[in-house]
Amino acid sequence: MVYRMIFNQTAYFGRGAVREIPEVARKHGFRKAFVVTDPVLLETGTARRVLDVLDAAGMEYEVFDNVRPNPPVECIQDGVLRFNASGADFLIGLGGGSPQDTCKGIGIIAANPEFGDVLSLEGVADTRNPSVPIFGVPTTAGTASETTINYVVTDTRNKRKFVAVDPHDIPVVAFVDPDLTDSMPRGLKVATGLDALTHAIEGYVTPGAWSLSDCLSMQTIRMIAKNLARSADGDVPAGEQMAYASYITGMAYSNVGLGLVHGMAHPLGGRLGVAHGVANGILLAPVMEYNKE
Ligand SMILES: NC(=O)c1ccc[n+]([C@@H]2O[C@H](COP(=O)([O-])OP(=O)(O)OC[C@H]3O[C@@H](n4cnc5c(N)ncnc54)[C@H](O)[C@@H]3O)[C@@H](O)[C@H]2O)c1
Ligand SMILES: [Fe+2]
Repeated sequence: MVYRMIFNQTAYFGRGAVREIPEVARKHGFRKAFVVTDPVLLETGTARRVLDVLDAAGMEYEVFDNVRPNPPVECIQDGVLRFNASGADFLIGLGGGSPQDTCKGIGIIAANPEFGDVLSLEGVADTRNPSVPIFGVPTTAGTASETTINYVVTDTRNKRKFVAVDPHDIPVVAFVDPDLTDSMPRGLKVATGLDALTHAIEGYVTPGAWSLSDCLSMQTIRMIAKNLARSADGDVPAGEQMAYASYITGMAYSNVGLGLVHGMAHPLGGRLGVAHGVANGILLAPVMEYNKE
């Protein structure tokens, strides 16, 4: 048996981590950022924390905020057009799973234009080129898209969500900065935290799990058990632990796979628009019962 593990090249953790972005970009030789985010994050000031850092460093950027939750094919196609016209040479996926996944789709298609219909990226697509380099900056503590090789897209016409699995899409650098997750309202902390818990449990029981992924998944289960409810109640240090737990379990599940909860959560999101973490929270206990049998 041979195991494959794919991680970011580099990741930064801690309050203020996003202040590293300009210098890391400079060291990579990047000149202009294309920032993929959503309108709520712009309105509420969370995205501003990163844009202020870019402004202070005099770094050129363009903002694309046409991302909706459970992002549809059309968001990605619109983003590709805007990216190609922008003259940017790297991407910043700034948000929860929806902006970060949209960012991955944009980066993959910009580098592999033959997949411009987006739908042909479903499953394990044979892309030739790595994505335009991505910096992943999470604002939720759940999906871990900043460290996974997956992105999830809604096929609007057929009312379904599909997963694209592609090592070419992994962000080169992740910046996990709890200052950006503090602003989540209670309901979002609970929903995204349940997504992270589901990743940890499914990543632990999946047939693909092995010793290295078990270390990551088990540690995350402990961290979430201790911190999810406290974080939802406004405990700031607990929120910080949730940001790290989400990332740590992402390192595992991205490489070993998930299970039936995620298989069933995607139709709930695609057909009924149910938030991903809420769908997981509803399904987790019954599926664990089913797996026990
Ligand atoms: N790529 C992966 O590996 C992966 C894994 C699991 C799920 N997903 C996908 O990610 C998507 C869900 O992502 P999500 O749960 O992170 O939510 P999301 O990105 O859809 O965001 C939900 C809402 O929360 C708001 N929000 C985000 N951060 C906030 C903050 N700090 N403060 C205030 N509001 C904030 C957003 O503006 C949005 O309105 C789904 O499409 C799901 O299928 C991807
Ligand atoms: Fe998930």
